[in-house]
Amino acid sequence: MCGIVGYIGTKPALPILLEKLENLAYRGYDSSGIAIIEGGQFYLEKMAGKIDNLKAKVNIDSPGTVGIGHTRWATHGEPTDINAHPHPDGSGNIVVVQNGIIENYLELKEWLQEKGHVFVSQTDTEVVGHLISEFYDGDIETAVFQAIRKLEGSFALAILDKRTPEKVIAVRFNPPLVIGLGEDGNYLASDIHALLKYTREILVVKDEEVAVLTRDQVRLYRFDGTEITDRAPLHVDWSVEIAKKEGYPHFMLKEIYEQPTTVADTILGRLLDDGTVVLDNVHYRQYHLQQIRRINMVACGTAYHACLVGKYVLEDFLRIPVDVDIGSEFRYRDPLVGEDYLTIVISQSGETADTIASLKEAKAKKSRVMAITNVVGSTISRMADDVLYTRAGPEIAVASTKAFTGQLTAIYLTMLYMLQHLGERRLNQPLFDGLRHLPGQIQQILDNHDQIKQIAKKLKDKDNCFFIGRNLDEPIAREGALKLKEISYIHAEAYGAGELKHGTIALIEEGMPVIALASQDKVYDKMVSNIQEVVARKAYVIAVAPEDATDIEKHASDVIRIPRTHPLLMPVLVTIPLQLLAYYTAVERGCDVDQPRNLAKSVTVE
Ligand code: AGP
Repeated sequence: MCGIVGYIGTKPALPILLEKLENLAYRGYDSSGIAIIEGGQFYLEKMAGKIDNLKAKVNIDSPGTVGIGHTRWATHGEPTDINAHPHPDGSGNIVVVQNGIIENYLELKEWLQEKGHVFVSQTDTEVVGHLISEFYDGDIETAVFQAIRKLEGSFALAILDKRTPEKVIAVRFNPPLVIGLGEDGNYLASDIHALLKYTREILVVKDEEVAVLTRDQVRLYRFDGTEITDRAPLHVDWSVEIAKKEGYPHFMLKEIYEQPTTVADTILGRLLDDGTVVLDNVHYRQYHLQQIRRINMVACGTAYHACLVGKYVLEDFLRIPVDVDIGSEFRYRDPLVGEDYLTIVISQSGETADTIASLKEAKAKKSRVMAITNVVGSTISRMADDVLYTRAGPEIAVASTKAFTGQLTAIYLTMLYMLQHLGERRLNQPLFDGLRHLPGQIQQILDNHDQIKQIAKKLKDKDNCFFIGRNLDEPIAREGALKLKEISYIHAEAYGAGELKHGTIALIEEGMPVIALASQDKVYDKMVSNIQEVVARKAYVIAVAPEDATDIEKHASDVIRIPRTHPLLMPVLVTIPLQLLAYYTAVERGCDVDQPRNLAKSVTVE
């Protein structure tokens, strides 16, 4: 998730832009840059690394009063100086910054190259400036409207044209954009937090709108060019701290609520309408995959739980045996890994020491290695042979939520990709449709947060809790237990529901909370029986089940209903209420939700 800033007014732009970039830095970034119009030319500085490096490099006395800036969280192209934004067009008349993904940038790039445009970066964003330049015929606004109608994907843009120094143009197609109306000019940013120092009069740019900022005016337009004249600014009295979380009380809740977008972003441009899968940094061919005799999946913590789901998904469709290891164990069992293995490592940060060590072990044994990670340019992304990025954006809360559902989504895409390269042309329509509908179904569950909030009040004084599930619900029981214990400090244990009677059921006593996951039809009846077993011992059962699963409410005290989708995709939906349950329980207990005791976001030590 990148950050955009802009300013046009009566004050020098550079100090304002730098300060606003620093206000966006909490979102996570790997490079930054600015472009200012001064004397009819651009003053442009951009580089990989921290904003302090940029500050040390720029000429802070730049007199220009119009400019844009950017913090980059890489999605296309490594974090390098040349890939940092702003991106100029070939003529040097236009510069652009983007937050988002241009899904059709490759075909646009080829079209533009045929017209003589020369590109210097690996980014999708660079295409935008060249496209506007291609349509430019004396009026920058007209050229922008023509160009954005060619773009597909999810993007927020800020654009400067040095021939039109009295304007900053902004475009929103999904990712947020807000405008601050100030005394000394008008401000642009990706979120309100970056504006509050200058103004609390905020004009929201809604989806599919274009904003044209001048020193003393802001005009809004729809993509069809019609002007919007009835948009009143809001007076925002949020504290700076609350604004950082875009109004959410914690980053964790903000990130839980980002999941409809992050799952959709992870799919964007990869699952095409004809059902084929295109993975940007994965290069398998049929002979590669036909050589693979086994698959190993290795990760830690939440990412390990994603691997456990991956085992079911990959074995079900590829019929290739899949082994799963935790990162801290894999290299110590002298794994039987070789050239005919594919090792898949999963890591949100791409920096987890045990997972890196496992990747090295697999490579030493000649296995091909694929990484699923959230951070472009991370150690794991650079060491793997193939990389599939989850486009979850920076995950700031220590407890991993949106990265996890991004990992599951990446596993589904990987399975479909391999299936297609193994010659399976039959489109699995239910799976394909299911993936497309996941974001909307996640939102449906999030909309039901009040019920989960009430259930959390019944958990807050408990010391122990069980999560039980069968089949694909078993790994999610583990993930639910981890979420609850790592942020609420309630001891939570996950168990295969069929395993309880082999000892652990001795621990079930009156009022013991048992979260029972019942999303898998083929074991539903057995799950109901397991629920009856623990109810017979006076447990307090909270069930998570599809909306059409009957008779479960006869046995469970509370039932959290979720939409139904393809059985393999249910883990994504079952996870959401468990994330919310952990979150609300931790809040009820007054815990430090975003920074739980003893934990780090990335465990870079063994
Ligand atoms: C998740 O909630 C935990 N914070 C932790 O288990 C995490 O998933 C684990 O440390 C792995 O991190 P990684 O995905 O960055 O490798």
